Amino acid sequence: MPAEAGHPAALWFVGTRCRPLWVRPIVRDDAGAFADFVAALSPPSRRQRFHTAVTELSPTWLRLLAQPDAATDLALVAVAWQQGAPQIVAEARYAVDRFADPAQREFALAVADGWQHQGLGRRLLRALTGEAARHGVQQLVGDVLRDNQPMLQLAAREGFAPTGHPDDARLLRMTRSLQVSAGPAAAAQPLFGGVPRAAPAATGAH
Ligand SMILES: CC(C)(COP(=O)(O)OP(=O)(O)OC[C@H]1O[C@@H](n2cnc3c(N)ncnc32)[C@H](O)[C@@H]1OP(=O)(O)O)[C@@H](O)C(=O)NCCC(=O)NCCS
Repeated sequence: MPAEAGHPAALWFVGTRCRPLWVRPIVRDDAGAFADFVAALSPPSRRQRFHTAVTELSPTWLRLLAQPDAATDLALVAVAWQQGAPQIVAEARYAVDRFADPAQREFALAVADGWQHQGLGRRLLRALTGEAARHGVQQLVGDVLRDNQPMLQLAAREGFAPTGHPDDARLLRMTRSLQVSAGPAAAAQPLFGGVPRAAPAATGAH
């Protein structure tokens, strides 16, 4: 599998077959691959990720997702080489909500259907939580559809607590404080060995 030239990236081996993939921050050039990733999700996975039956992302939405604000947000993608070509197979991100507490970030997570149930979601959520804690985020929240048992279970096992969503009865809000001194987030090593989290090319104006 070729190295991710120019990107700070971590090499992970996933599942019992130890399938290799690179985990790194998303960059602007990933927009097309990210759109392909979303399009390839099964309809139930897409609904669970976006809380609505989207089929494809609008150009504006895609730009927001592929060009997060490096000052406040982080979007990790997992890239696998399949048939000689790179493919995004998972994403984990947090982003600031301009109307919420500035020390809080909202997270989201999705794993391609063919890569689920191999520990990738848990590992990405842990990596994201660790990066958030290292960057001074004090609280992570994620809104999860009430029928999304896999995500609710995963988040609960990673220390997130559920409350009702203030505006949307379909959702539960999963919250975790990152100020605790023990636990996976506090113990996490820098994902990229201290390399800046976003390549300069990814941090330009939207
Ligand atoms: C939720 C999701 C990210 C889990 O990813 P994954 O890589 O399959 O999860 P993992 O293999 O790391 O499993 C971690 C834990 O998740 C839970 N989980 C995963 N699949 C599950 C299922 N089908 N039923 C119940 N729990 C499940 C379990 O707690 C599991 O821990 P365990 O293996 O010790 O039982 C994945 O199912 C997904 O992308 N779903 C669609 C998008 C989505 O729901 N995003 C969440 C919106 S924030």
